[in-house]
Amino acid sequence: MTHPTHVLRPLVEADILQVLDLYRAAILPIWLERGRDHDFGRIEANLRARIGDGDHGLTVAQGASGHRAPLAGYLAWERHPDHTSTHTVAHLRMILVHPDHQGSGLGRDLMRHFEAAARAAGCTKLLFDVLAGSPARGFYERLGYHHWSDYLEKRLDG
Ligand SMILES: CC(C)(COP(=O)(O)OP(=O)(O)OC[C@H]1O[C@@H](n2cnc3c(N)ncnc32)[C@H](O)[C@@H]1OP(=O)(O)O)[C@@H](O)C(=O)NCCC(=O)NCCS
Repeated sequence: MTHPTHVLRPLVEADILQVLDLYRAAILPIWLERGRDHDFGRIEANLRARIGDGDHGLTVAQGASGHRAPLAGYLAWERHPDHTSTHTVAHLRMILVHPDHQGSGLGRDLMRHFEAAARAAGCTKLLFDVLAGSPARGFYERLGYHHWSDYLEKRLDG
């Protein structure tokens, strides 16, 4: 799949450090502001473990100028059975567009890619959680998603 300026392709091991940089540029400030728990060692280990796993989709958006062009976007999702119905769910775990590239339609193309890949993998429902007050909420609503549930959290470690 292509975007006018970026190619969407599967993530490979050599991309991992750049993807961690994308996390730092695009979402770390939001996590710090909202006090969200995070651990970059765990994120890296999860990325390595999920490459090649048929229930995980990992996609990067790379500048079309060649294989050394920097990554501008990242998408991760996971397929699993629904708990209460016969649906197979595609759970979006992360979407990131580097701040230098936001607002140019790349996020929309990554979401289109997610929807097409989930359909091709036999999924019949798309699901994800959004941080309370996240600016990304307007983005999802613009793409036709509706908010139907709140995700609650209680910490047991302190
Ligand atoms: C959210 C994010 C992925 C959107 O990517 P993007 O490339 O900037 O979005 P696009 O340019 O494809 O925008 C698609 C549409 O959504 C709208 N949109 C984008 N961000 C928006 C926002 N924060 N609020 C309202 N609308 C928004 C755009 O205006 C555009 O609308 P249009 O149809 O009128 O043109 C990107 O801003 C990002 O990575 N943010 C930081 C990380 C993050 O919050 N990730 C989500 C974790 S839940």
